[in-house]
Amino acid sequence: MGKRIKGGYFITFEGAEGSGKSTQIRFAVRLLKRKGYPVVLLREPGGTAAGEAVRKILLDRKLHRMKVETELLLYLAARAELVRQKIEPALRQGKVVVLDRYEDSTLAYQGFGGGLPLRVIRSLSRFTRGHFVPQLTFLLDVGSREGLRRSGRRDRVEQKPVSFHERVRKGFLQLARREPRRFVVLSSREPIARVRKKVEEVLSARL
Ligand code: TMP
Repeated sequence: MGKRIKGGYFITFEGAEGSGKSTQIRFAVRLLKRKGYPVVLLREPGGTAAGEAVRKILLDRKLHRMKVETELLLYLAARAELVRQKIEPALRQGKVVVLDRYEDSTLAYQGFGGGLPLRVIRSLSRFTRGHFVPQLTFLLDVGSREGLRRSGRRDRVEQKPVSFHERVRKGFLQLARREPRRFVVLSSREPIARVRKKVEEVLSARL
């Protein structure tokens, strides 16, 4: 059973490629489980059958000419499934949902990076996610060149120019400044152990 929380608790992790996001997510999940919380770990795009199928399209290098409007709608399609099939039921059961990327990624990548108006994204995103907004968001910040070098992956998104990734990074930081209570910004320049400590402190304080 574990320690259930009324209405659940919704945590997201955001950040550019190579920011160390996956390492910190693994750490956070282990920690929360050790503390006795029932944890559901999910990722975007993906986490449902339709969402994983959409993910394959989105990360396919052969489709690098896809328009940013198409991209936006595909990310949102994957999200619509995930919210209804996985996030909503888990929160209703009082679980802690840890999600690798959510709405802030759409604003950062398709908005700041791809140039779509933020108000359009916000409005479509509200329709997609309903009232399911994270209570806590960790933003792992990394320099764009450093992140691309560290990530080593070369899919459709990472093939984009460094200037795109720089806009994405600045976008994330701007979103964090707008909502300082929801966001905790962590820098990849800090040693991993210190970032971990901060994640642990924040989780202990909030949950
Ligand atoms: P990841 O599994 O490494 O996080 O890859 C997902 C990619 O999709 C990543 O490059 C960011 C991108 N993305 C968007 O562009 N918009 C979105 O809304 C989401 C969720 C992800």
